[in-house]
Amino acid sequence: MAEIIISTKELCRDFKIGDGSVVRALKNVNVEIEKGSLTILRGRSGSGKTTLTNILGALDKPTKGKVFFKGDVITDISEKKRDDLRRYQMAFVFQSIALISSMTAYENVEFGLRLAKYPYDLRDKRTREVLANVGLEKRMFHRPGELSGGEQQRVAIARAIAHNPLVVFADEPTAELDTATSLYIVKLFKELVARFGMTIIMTTHDPSMIDIADKVYTLEDGEIVE
Ligand SMILES: Nc1ncnc2c1ncn2[C@@H]1O[C@H](COP(=O)(O)OP(=O)(O)OP(=O)(O)O)[C@@H](O)[C@H]1O
Ligand SMILES: [Mg+2]
Repeated sequence: MAEIIISTKELCRDFKIGDGSVVRALKNVNVEIEKGSLTILRGRSGSGKTTLTNILGALDKPTKGKVFFKGDVITDISEKKRDDLRRYQMAFVFQSIALISSMTAYENVEFGLRLAKYPYDLRDKRTREVLANVGLEKRMFHRPGELSGGEQQRVAIARAIAHNPLVVFADEPTAELDTATSLYIVKLFKELVARFGMTIIMTTHDPSMIDIADKVYTLEDGEIVE
């Protein structure tokens, strides 16, 4: 049986808003994420996808319930430990591609490795390797403005996976891309899962991608539905 890398127990997340009322963004959510799989969280706008992703990725905490990472509870450990977890074991890819516009694709990835304190003598090799893994070996020295939207997102993915995280979280990574490019990105995720055993969790409201996923969780008003 495959190893479960992340799981949750009865996650709830309430947001208090200005007028004193409460939005129940997640209600008793239970998920199990298998190591080396592509999981899609889908659901309409406002259904809780980002809220759930942020809690799984230790960027936010639930109001109630627990998150387990490799069997250990991570919802009540110190911020320092959560910070280390995010920095070394996790990676994040977002809808708006936050590349540094004055840097080439190569420099964007290499810079990320510097921040992750990756050893100097391995950075060049690793940067070239991950850019090749996302099919950008011929675009390495282009700046973001000289790349298409899909290519820019691939640079962001290369930057995210460069330090070999255990889990990659991608919140609507294809929302700003056309359908064909979006499919390419999801297939790339699938390939990274198959070749390197990565675990990837992505959100989308685009139903055309769900066939590619190993597992799909559908959210409706903060609840997982069948
Ligand atoms: N910081 C916040 N304060 C108050 N309410 C919030 C906050 N963040 C999210 N919500 C509410 O929680 C619910 C879930 O939001 P969430 O962002 O998780 O949805 P989503 O599925 O990611 O939507 P989208 O597809 O538009 O990104 C929504 O009703 C939203 O208004
Ligand atoms: Mg969202």
